[in-house]
Amino acid sequence: MPDTLIRNGTVVTARDTTRADVLIQGERIREVRAGVAAPSGAAIIDATGMYVMPGGIDAHTHLDMPFGGSKSSDDFETGTRAAAFGGTTSIVDFAIQGRGTRMRDALDTWWKKAEGRACIDYGLHMIVTDLGECGLEDMDDMVREGVASFKLFMAYPNVLMVDDATIFKALSQTAKNGALICMHAENGSVIAVIIARALAEGKTAPIYHALTRPPRAEAEAVHRAIAMAEIAGAPVYIVHLSSEDALNQVREARDRGVPAFAETCPQYLLLSIEELERPGFEGAKYVFTPPLRPKEHLPKLWDGLKQDHLQVVSTDHCPFCFEDQKMLGKDDFTKIPNGGPGIENRLQLIHHYGVNAGKLSLNRFVELTSTTPARIFGMYPRKGEIAPGSDADIVIWDPGASLTISAKTHHMRVDYSMFEGFQVKGNARTVLSRGEVIVDNGQWKGKPGRGAYLKRAARGGAWR
Ligand code: URP
Ligand code: ZN
Ligand code: ZN
Repeated sequence: MPDTLIRNGTVVTARDTTRADVLIQGERIREVRAGVAAPSGAAIIDATGMYVMPGGIDAHTHLDMPFGGSKSSDDFETGTRAAAFGGTTSIVDFAIQGRGTRMRDALDTWWKKAEGRACIDYGLHMIVTDLGECGLEDMDDMVREGVASFKLFMAYPNVLMVDDATIFKALSQTAKNGALICMHAENGSVIAVIIARALAEGKTAPIYHALTRPPRAEAEAVHRAIAMAEIAGAPVYIVHLSSEDALNQVREARDRGVPAFAETCPQYLLLSIEELERPGFEGAKYVFTPPLRPKEHLPKLWDGLKQDHLQVVSTDHCPFCFEDQKMLGKDDFTKIPNGGPGIENRLQLIHHYGVNAGKLSLNRFVELTSTTPARIFGMYPRKGEIAPGSDADIVIWDPGASLTISAKTHHMRVDYSMFEGFQVKGNARTVLSRGEVIVDNGQWKGKPGRGAYLKRAARGGAWR
């Protein structure tokens, strides 16, 4: 691969904003400073008027994920290509341990799903459904394979939910092996009772998905998860945090110096519960878990991002087509596949509604969408940084580019957008993954299968 010189851009990292050129040799960044001379034969990319940022890292995606006889509609090829169009150059997806099976089986299955398809680099978390006899040993085995994080569910009884004993054992194991537990925090048992009551009363429309999962059920589980992590002496990371109530629990713990971390997602920052009341069955497009909340929660989450009570914005991209998948629940909201699409739009939305709206600095935007996920999930400084030695995963961002988000033009394999008609300013112009241009001016230049598995480090709480 010839050297590449990115000239005349403004380099934006989590730390600072500087006028500098970026020289790439092979797959890595070689130099970052003003006035780098072009080596002979180098490809030159002019970034005048552009931001040169570390590629986005989406630490929460579900590609090709089985769900109730169906599966999420993006596979590793379509999903990672769509991610790249939006400036994301690494993802961390979730392998799912089948109950009564070994974690290695799940890892092999997910490697096969990605092989020959992934267009950008990918890591894997392991969803633990059962610790059985070998579970703790399996967790150590996964850490050796670079699966440095595990997701546990406090919700979805009889499907994915595990009990507190299992959660506590898993947390205690990570206190030893340095991995991180990611928690889906909702009180699944209480929610199951509320759902049964709603169905008995004939309440079957999509809105009841949200009304049967109150914010307090999320806050209670966040509180319990953090308390168990404290007893185990392990850090904990709350995924897809959606409500002010839950946020208060994280903030209170962090104020006491507890290593509790949390992410939220664009849908919780920009959409509210009314979406589920759309006419017809349209509300099903917004059925995911935790659900959308009343409007008052949204500014609290933005403030949480600003104040570092929340550290990461991921997508929880888990697309199901409206016509043939969401429709499965037309007579019963509990049968609507849970999940929504967003892998392509994360940077566009957070840049526009965060940076352009004056809620976040550019540096904080980079930190939330790239650098902190790289640190927390054991990829830093290989990923999430523009510095000599880091992978040349770079997004050349045009802050003036206008885009109207639409299912008609997006690259995700799903027949609707949760953000249909949203008008944003700022988009990825050129995207490089390990030195290779994979998107340029809306044109796809990458190849399926070029994305590599990311063996991540278990950092043992070394977050900074
Ligand atoms: O509804 C959602 N979030 N679907 C994906 C699975 C999960 O809980 O993250
Ligand atoms: Zn979840
Ligand atoms: Zn998820």
